[in-house]
Amino acid sequence: MGVDLFAGLNGAALPALGRAPKILVFDSGLGGLTVLSELVLALPGASFVYAADDAAFPYGALDEERLVARVLAVMERLVAREAPDLVVIACNTAATGALPALRARFALPFVGTVPAVKPAVKASRSGLVTILATPGTVRREHTRAMIDAFAGETEVTLVGSPRLAGFAEAELRGEPVADADVAAEIAPCFVEKDARRTDAVALACTHFPLLTRRFEAVAPWPVAWIDPAPAIARRVLALVAEPDRAIEGGARPRVLFTSDRTAPAALVSALAKRGLASIVNDHFPLT
Ligand code: DGL
Repeated sequence: MGVDLFAGLNGAALPALGRAPKILVFDSGLGGLTVLSELVLALPGASFVYAADDAAFPYGALDEERLVARVLAVMERLVAREAPDLVVIACNTAATGALPALRARFALPFVGTVPAVKPAVKASRSGLVTILATPGTVRREHTRAMIDAFAGETEVTLVGSPRLAGFAEAELRGEPVADADVAAEIAPCFVEKDARRTDAVALACTHFPLLTRRFEAVAPWPVAWIDPAPAIARRVLALVAEPDRAIEGGARPRVLFTSDRTAPAALVSALAKRGLASIVNDHFPLT
């Protein structure tokens, strides 16, 4: 299958619905909450369902074939259960691997998130940028193709962190990890070369913006941390028919987990702070 460099941005527009749209936001875990927050700001009247495939977390550890099969199977259940008007794949690991298969299977607009190579290159003055992602996203042909297409003269360092997404999950569960562990994971992002230093890091996993303050605190020098969530929200807004954008009446956002684990108190309160008071376990183990 050829690589569609703009797959992350190419969701088809919605027809006018005459009501608030229902938007399903999907991730392997809690990282997509960073995208959900921006979506709620952009479309406060819409209905949102947030689905976390936490039974299969982390996606970064799955090979591409397994990942695509899993995402299709979970999406089948979610679409049947929730009947969304539009789906946001708020996960770089899933989007860079499974977007073409999702678009082929479902007659629905899908918006994905793919590594923000272009914005990182644009933000850099030193000509040294880093794409910080999961090991799965780093392995993807799609990621390499974006770098080839958009880096130009800028040197791009690709860093695949196997642990950061789990750190972000732990943080939201109220179990923050030590500074030294965070510092060790981001250390390879910082490159010094010919009196130049990395000055922009694209957060190419939706979990990572949950840790931006931790990154800033332990970084060896300041850099621009690039979070694509506002751009994704702008894209979704543009796909919703103009008259439907201002319609109020969406239900309060709900969250659905595929594991049968009970959310700990700290997570329940973190979710409530984001307006997610209703939590459902629709158990669907990874086989
Ligand atoms: N949030 C996901 C992403 O944007 C990754 C986390 C995982 O490895 O499951 O890539």
